[in-house]
Amino acid sequence: MIHMNAKIVGIGTTFLVALIFAAVVVAPQHLNPEVHQFSENYRKRTDLEERGRDLYMRYGCQYCHSQYIRTVDWGLGAERLAEAGDYAADTAPQLGSLRNGPDLSQEGGEHTDDWHAAHFYNPRWTRPESFMPPFPYLEEGEMNALIAYVQSLGGRLADQRTARQWKWRKQAIAAYEKNADANIEWLHQHVPQGWLEVPNPYPITEVSRLRGATIYQRHCLGCHGPVGDGQGPAVAFIYPPPLNFTTLRRHGIEGGATGGMLYYQIMNGITGTAMPYFKRELESEKIWDVSNYVAEQFIGIVDANAEPRGIDAAFEPIDSSPKKGD
Ligand code: HEC
Ligand code: HEC
Repeated sequence: MIHMNAKIVGIGTTFLVALIFAAVVVAPQHLNPEVHQFSENYRKRTDLEERGRDLYMRYGCQYCHSQYIRTVDWGLGAERLAEAGDYAADTAPQLGSLRNGPDLSQEGGEHTDDWHAAHFYNPRWTRPESFMPPFPYLEEGEMNALIAYVQSLGGRLADQRTARQWKWRKQAIAAYEKNADANIEWLHQHVPQGWLEVPNPYPITEVSRLRGATIYQRHCLGCHGPVGDGQGPAVAFIYPPPLNFTTLRRHGIEGGATGGMLYYQIMNGITGTAMPYFKRELESEKIWDVSNYVAEQFIGIVDANAEPRGIDAAFEPIDSSPKKGD
């Protein structure tokens, strides 16, 4: 019979800890070949991106952001499940354990560089209610490195998305630099015809107007400004600058300033510009509310109460005629 004493407890505990270490740390490293194999999506980071990664760790970004998506995280919206091979080159994978902010595993190409610059300088400028700390003291080199790093998150898929952003960015800048009319024409040319013709389903009521104003303050104000003239504080960083909605006035309904057009742009964002998409943050009715608000308050042309009225999507006429067997 073993008599428990300090020595035996000490040896026993050490043995147990060693066993757990072997099973949890050593064995997976050596027995699981997957750990050392790169995934198909993996690519090596550039020196600038590596520098950004160092800053990411130094500024404690990992205390609020994760960098992995599992099947149980489907609700977070990233397009790809994490694989061990995504992290094979990292000595300290930045998985993170808290999600005070969004998961960043597929952040690359979600936004343009100018959006990130404004957001790092002051997150409240691009997301008025954000509690992410501002980083206004980043030197230019540090800012560029951090942006390069977040744009690299998501490997090859992120590269495809950033390439797409740059392709459209050239066109967006060319249109903006030509003149205001050419810019609006360019912006509207990509809205499918069907969306221009969608009947506006919700009338403007006192309540919907209040909802629209609140959504505008929570999501749009930092860029488009309190009076919709595109002079929100983020404008210093953003190019092409946020649209001045009052320029849409002279384009009238024929020019495409309809509820459906605004809805489409707000839902999908404008690739190549800092205009983000809101389809993950705002449900359909809220997008209508904010587009009606923009149309009424800033453009001065609104089709919300026009005929023919749209109907709520799930509406079916009630068929009251007697059925067979009644
Ligand atoms: C205190 C927690 C906190 C810290 C620290 C923090 N963030 Fe955030 N971050 C957030 C929150 C909350 C959001 C969502 C609101 C927003 O966009 O600002 C966010 C959003 C972001 C986004 C935008 C994601 C998207 O596509 O919408 C990026 C990129 C980002 N953070 C990067 C960083 C980097 C890089 C650092 C370190 C320099 C950092 N964050 C530090 C909380 C934090
Ligand atoms: C980070 C800055 C930013 C935020 C936040 C932002 N926008 Fe934009 N928005 C832009 C930029 C930049 C453009 C495109 C300017 C250009 O290419 O001339 C734009 C364009 C638009 C357009 C296109 C209009 C047209 O005629 O094609 C609409 C509509 C719009 N924004 C509405 C909104 C609404 C509503 C919100 C809030 C829910 C919002 N934006 C939030 C920057 C922003």
